[in-house]
Amino acid sequence: MSTSKFSHLLSPGRIGPVELRNRIVMAPMGSYMGGLDGHITERHKRFYEDRARGGVGLITTEVVAVDWPRGAAMVNQLGLSDDAFIPGLRDLTDRVHALGAKISVQLQQAGKVATKDLAEGRPMSVPSANVRAMEGVLNDLTADETMKIMQTFAKADPSNMFWEIDDEEIQRLIRCFADAAERAKRAGFDAVEIHAGHGYLVHEFLSPHCNFRTDRWGGALENRARFLCEILRETRRKVGNDMAVWCRLDGEEKDVPDGIKRADAIETARMAVGAGADAIHVTRYGGPSGIGFAAMIVHEPGELLPYAEAVRKAVNVPVIAVGRLLPELAESAIADGKADFVAMARQLLADPDLPNKLAQGRREDIRPCIHCYTCVGQIFINEVVKCAANPACAREAEFEITPAAKPKRVLVVGGGTSGMEAARIAALRGHQVTLCEKSERLGGTLWFASLVYEPNGQLLDYLEAQVRKLPIDLRLGQEVTPSVVQQLRPDVILVAVGARRERPPIPGVDRANVFSGDDLRALMTGGDKRVAAEKLSLAQRAVLKMGSLIGVADRVALSRELSKHWMPLGKRVAVIGGGLVGLELAEFLVERDREVSVIEEEPTPGAEMSIPRRWRVLHILRTHGVNLLTEARVEAITDLGVVYVKDGTQQTVAVDSVILASGVQENRGLADALGGTGAEIHLLGDCKGVGYIEGALLDANKLARQI
Ligand SMILES: Cc1cc2nc3c(=O)[nH]c(=O)nc-3n(C[C@H](O)[C@H](O)[C@H](O)COP(=O)(O)O)c2cc1C
Ligand code: SF4
Repeated sequence: MSTSKFSHLLSPGRIGPVELRNRIVMAPMGSYMGGLDGHITERHKRFYEDRARGGVGLITTEVVAVDWPRGAAMVNQLGLSDDAFIPGLRDLTDRVHALGAKISVQLQQAGKVATKDLAEGRPMSVPSANVRAMEGVLNDLTADETMKIMQTFAKADPSNMFWEIDDEEIQRLIRCFADAAERAKRAGFDAVEIHAGHGYLVHEFLSPHCNFRTDRWGGALENRARFLCEILRETRRKVGNDMAVWCRLDGEEKDVPDGIKRADAIETARMAVGAGADAIHVTRYGGPSGIGFAAMIVHEPGELLPYAEAVRKAVNVPVIAVGRLLPELAESAIADGKADFVAMARQLLADPDLPNKLAQGRREDIRPCIHCYTCVGQIFINEVVKCAANPACAREAEFEITPAAKPKRVLVVGGGTSGMEAARIAALRGHQVTLCEKSERLGGTLWFASLVYEPNGQLLDYLEAQVRKLPIDLRLGQEVTPSVVQQLRPDVILVAVGARRERPPIPGVDRANVFSGDDLRALMTGGDKRVAAEKLSLAQRAVLKMGSLIGVADRVALSRELSKHWMPLGKRVAVIGGGLVGLELAEFLVERDREVSVIEEEPTPGAEMSIPRRWRVLHILRTHGVNLLTEARVEAITDLGVVYVKDGTQQTVAVDSVILASGVQENRGLADALGGTGAEIHLLGDCKGVGYIEGALLDANKLARQI
């Protein structure tokens, strides 16, 4: 057994006949990488191979359709309905095994969300022809979505979307699962995971919300679980005892009053074990509404652990837990007997090497997931999975970091997201890197973004740790001028100084109660003292001064915590601009008990956010009674508040403070000024065009690999 801080997580384990080198399972993730033919691609293989190389004990593939092309949730989903799929998958399992990991395939029939059926004009198979659930999805989409998403669903005709399958079809589907499992065995998989959750067909049989049958497949739980149990029995019969077979179950159907209850889930787990399951993987489903998505792709660390723990008490086979199980939490979950294995999804998108880094005692080198939901959002728009924190995700071959052909002197100007990432990659490639940051701290806009949204702080910590560890000449408090450049004589200058923020030309915008993003940043981070003098009362300045004396402004987590008790803003706050920044700010403010109005000119607030993140933030804002004004144009800021025009009518929202969350522009000034220095100059990140964290990292990654 390992003696590290993560000794339980890193200890070997066994599921059925399969020995695993540690307790970390890569959770299944639909990648959208395939073509329309259902075959695995080289891109998939490289994606899984990198996670196997990174040290996971077991890879679980994304959902694979047992009856492909029928019942596939995505148009380009992988299939396992024919022997023709075996050779490609065999290559995958060989490559994963060569790297010491085991691999299981997730088998699925998508039921009422079989988008491929919908796209190809087939009705979707369901236990009962009950359109309620799908209508829920459509309703939510209509409420908040952009045209692009709407078009994805536009082909749907609710009147003949569903096929209530009969006994004969049920029996055929049971054989489809078992036959696919047998093919998986021939393809070299160590295990199969039957997907019995997340609103797909097996779940629909289990759920009283979707299953209204009166035959032996509906009614009492024993009947509703029959489909799953028959699949498990037939699969076991086909594959024998030398392959592991288990299922993924919802611990509950959250916020669905007539859905699966926790007690049902526990009983179903018992029945599944009785039918031959070697393990139970416990997840959760949240019903058909948009925000229900967050019930399975959870926000709170360890949110789903109680479900796994409850199932573990009831069964005598290993239990796999999932749901934002950060390494420390994962370790304690296993140490405390709440789970036997821990599945990680998003963390392994953000950093495939997570297990190896834990084993090597390099926790601080793990690139964190920042919980932006960009990866999941891709699925909604039929695009390949990507990770905002890790540009190399699903593009592993293209984004490999290779030594520079000729090491150069590289000057990076600006220690924000793109500057730090570019410096990191350039240094890893062997360049001689100097990173100059005008202020006394690293982070730039990311520092403020960390204050507003906690997961961003983990990315800041990671990038800062890398910059400080690598051979990078870090110069804080160093403004870059042509004379500094002459001294340093760089071959390449990467200008990453962030965007320019200009106050919009609105009457009243210079009033003392109006804060730009820069003002707020300066106040919260103790930066420009002039802002405090202009904007704050004597008492407020005293509080700030005290904060900076005790070092609060240097620590983002502490500043975030203290901002719950004090901030230089009145009770009623208007945020002008309802894009990503404005909405995240509004979320931050309502958590701090402010009455918030968001004023946005466009019809869709937060249009640039990933769909699930937007759903989540809009849900939170609405639950807190935020006054969300769209298609509203601000005319002036007066003593009475913010004057705006909506639907041709002028109105005023009374507020104490106003925050400007719009008016961000590219910033070429420094790059132009350095133009005569003879160095090769590139602009990076937000100073070239606003791309937020994802854009900044991607840009930095691309450029730093090219120089
Ligand atoms: C991009 C993405 C795709 C997913 N696709 C699947 C899937 O194909 N099958 C499945 O059972 N769960 C899927 N999930 C859910 C994950 O397996 C996991 O349960 C969830 O993300 C919570 O784990 P995490 O907090 O470690 O991300 C997906 C999650 C993500 C982020
Ligand atoms: S895209 Fe965002 S949520 Fe998804 S893994 Fe990456 S950082 Fe995490």
